[in-house]
Amino acid sequence: MKKEILFSREAIGRRVRELADGISRDYEGREVVLIGVLKGAFVFLADLIRNLRIPCVIDFVRLASYGSKTVSSGEIVITKDIETPIQGRDVLVVEDIVDTGLTLSFLVEKLKEKSPRSLKVCVFLDKKERRKVPFEADYVGYDIPDRFVVGYGLDCNEQFRFLPDVYVIGEGESPNRH
Ligand code: IMP
Repeated sequence: MKKEILFSREAIGRRVRELADGISRDYEGREVVLIGVLKGAFVFLADLIRNLRIPCVIDFVRLASYGSKTVSSGEIVITKDIETPIQGRDVLVVEDIVDTGLTLSFLVEKLKEKSPRSLKVCVFLDKKERRKVPFEADYVGYDIPDRFVVGYGLDCNEQFRFLPDVYVIGEGESPNRH
């Protein structure tokens, strides 16, 4: 499969440190509950927490989407919920990429029901032009065009998550396009 590098591991490392610095400043003196969205966010989350200068605890959530992603977010379900109580706490959701916005807008509404003190979202990549529902992340690593990317936790049919750099997959090879 033809792959073209988009972000090198060095560039990613620098950008993740910048994001972590911003988060550490914004949450100074507070403890944050970081919620990673499985599976894709595990690499980004691992790097992010090692650059934070604030106390944090970690949990994970996993979501599955059924049927067409082109319609409402009604087909998204939580297949693994968080185990940490978040009521009255500062929560930061960490996700690999926001595309249509359906997954994160669903998750944010679900987490709001648990009454956190604050709820923000940090994404490594943002494909703004692909939105089907309005969604704006509070922290964004990189804005990217409408291309399918792999590496740094992001997969294509479960492949390539291990790659330390981010690659664009060649035209015509992108799976699951809507
Ligand atoms: P959304 O609900 O459309 O925003 O979908 C977000 C999810 O789609 C992400 O968590 C990824 O699993 C997947 N996704 C979207 N674009 C890409 C991509 O370019 N590479 C890998 N996964 C992607």
